Amino acid sequence: MLSNGKEVIMYNGNENITICDHPLIKHKITMLRMKTTGTNEFRALVEEIAVLMGYEALRGLEIEEIDVETPIERAKCPVIAGKKQAIVPILRAGLGMVGGLLTLMPAAKVGHIGMYRDEVTHEPHEYYCKLPNPIDQRKIFVVDPMLATGGSAVDAINLIKEKGGKDITFMCLIAAPEGLKRLSEEHPDVKIFVGNLDRELNENAYICPGLGDAGDRIFGTK
Ligand code: PRP
Ligand code: URA
Repeated sequence: MLSNGKEVIMYNGNENITICDHPLIKHKITMLRMKTTGTNEFRALVEEIAVLMGYEALRGLEIEEIDVETPIERAKCPVIAGKKQAIVPILRAGLGMVGGLLTLMPAAKVGHIGMYRDEVTHEPHEYYCKLPNPIDQRKIFVVDPMLATGGSAVDAINLIKEKGGKDITFMCLIAAPEGLKRLSEEHPDVKIFVGNLDRELNENAYICPGLGDAGDRIFGTK
């Protein structure tokens, strides 16, 4: 694993994988992990981390210069240019990251992909898909707090590609090595941003140490 000495770590030399290394992200993920963190605080933390990670993930946005009249003089100044964006949360837990990213990209369209994991097989099942149409010219941010086996993320991105999506970034707060490997192998073109790379999956395919069930903790279910 290489550290660039700044805010991010490149994973195994793979330029498309960024493990965020900012102390604020690490601190807030630790707060998320605590089983005493209640629903209100959990939701707020997920949104805050999404903003902090979004700052990193949006570093590659194209800019163009426009003419601006300041109180002092005319100047050429940079603004965001290029492709329009789409944010696509994987339901349910991905919804928790949308508000944070919309503060950075207020004009983004929002699609939704519904996936649940079978409790026994841990295989994902799709139950909903509605994406901005057309999707092919957009810069797409697929978000889900948890990347465990990688099945949900891989299938969600398959769906997006079937509908024409090309420029795809996946963002998660916590990943297991197993899921990160699978996602990067099945979708090598997708840029992946991870808040923290955890140790492993347990026998129930939960991330260790992880934070438990992200959807239940965001929505106060169970
Ligand atoms: C969780 C999580 C991911 C998925 C990750 O969702 O939000 O979508 O599991 O696991 P995987 O990498 O092994 O596919 P879950 O299926 O629990 O649904 P929920 O968000 O509705 O609770
Ligand atoms: N989904 C979660 O919400 N948590 C895990 O640890 C694994 C999958």
